[in-house]
Amino acid sequence: MADVRVICAIGQSGQLGLDGQLPWEGARERAFVEDVERFFEITQGHVLIAGPKTTASFPDFVRRTRTIVEIRRSDDPQNILARFADRVVYVGGGPAVWDVYAPFVRHWDINRMPYDGPADRWFKPEWLVAVGAQR
Ligand SMILES: NC(=O)c1ccc[n+]([C@@H]2O[C@H](COP(=O)([O-])OP(=O)(O)OC[C@H]3O[C@@H](n4cnc5c(N)ncnc54)[C@H](OP(=O)(O)O)[C@@H]3O)[C@@H](O)[C@H]2O)c1
Repeated sequence: MADVRVICAIGQSGQLGLDGQLPWEGARERAFVEDVERFFEITQGHVLIAGPKTTASFPDFVRRTRTIVEIRRSDDPQNILARFADRVVYVGGGPAVWDVYAPFVRHWDINRMPYDGPADRWFKPEWLVAVGAQR
């Protein structure tokens, strides 16, 4: 079984996304810039699976330095993860993806950002205790 992990960033109330982007997209303060840099650093060399909107948001250099797999609801999560049995697999979201893949996740890395504005995608704490598919 793959070593399945998540790195995500949330606002103070669990904000995840807004209009297809990060809610704080474009913010230049250090906390936001460092968060994105850290995500790209840690996922380097590993497998990154995500829904179509999330994969579309990755810049080109990210595609060259890790294995990106766009996943669809028609994919069987067990089959997707079985393809990368000896790899670290980061599940990149969005929420509909985490709803299904959360039971497989061994390690959650959640960075709380200094943002408490609007969002249309939200973190669900129940993902952290989703039971069913762990090794
Ligand atoms: N803050 C963060 O750390 C973070 C991380 C990631 C994303 N985001 C934000 O989240 C938003 C994008 O997420 P999103 O959910 O709107 O779109 P998304 O990334 O495209 O993810 C949802 C899509 O994933 C596909 N999918 C794959 N496997 C699935 C399954 N088993 N069950 C259901 N759907 C599955 C579906 O596409 P099909 O219907 O085509 O199959 C679904 O519409 C953006 O605002 C982005 O910035 C934030």
